Amino acid sequence: MPKILPAAGGDVVEIILADHRWFEEALRELRDVQSDRAAVLADLATVLIAHAEAEESKVYPALRRKDAIDADEVEHSEREHDEGNEALLELMEVDDTSSEEFSSKLHELSEALSHHLDEEERDVLNPARTDISEKVRRDLGDSFSEERARLIESDCGDIANVRKIVKG
Ligand SMILES: [Fe+2]
Ligand SMILES: [Fe+2]
Repeated sequence: MPKILPAAGGDVVEIILADHRWFEEALRELRDVQSDRAAVLADLATVLIAHAEAEESKVYPALRRKDAIDADEVEHSEREHDEGNEALLELMEVDDTSSEEFSSKLHELSEALSHHLDEEERDVLNPARTDISEKVRRDLGDSFSEERARLIESDCGDIANVRKIVKG
C-alpha cells in the first residue's frame, strides 16, 4: 500500500505532481484483487478529496489572480473534480470489493482521474511553471500543503463527507 505522502514544503508544482503519481499508484493497487482494496480506497478517498479541495481553495485562485489561468480553466478543472468525486463515491458505495461492480466503478474512476491529471498537468501546472515566480510557487506549496494536511486530519475522505461534497 502506498503510504500517504506527508505534508512537504517546496514548489507547489512538484508537490501536486507527487500526489498525482501517488494517485496512479493507489489505482494500480486497487486493480490488484489481492490487495487490501478497502484500506487502499479509504486512503485514496482521503488524499483525493484533500488534494482537490486544497487546489480549489489555495492554488487555482492564486494562479487566477496572477493571470496564469483563466476563469474557464478554473471552472473546467472544478467540474472535473466534481466528476471525479462522483466516481469516487460510486466506488465507495460498492459493498463487495471483489465484485464485477467494483471493477467497473474502479474503471470509471480511473478514466475520470487520468483525464483530469493529464489536463491539469498540461493546462494548469505548465502556466504555473512559466508564469509564476519560484518564490510564489514555494509560498503556494506551503499553503497547499497546510490545507491538504488540515483536511486529511479532519478525515475528509469519510464517506459521509464525500456524499456531502458530491451533493454540494
Ligand atoms: Fe491535482
Ligand atoms: Fe485537480
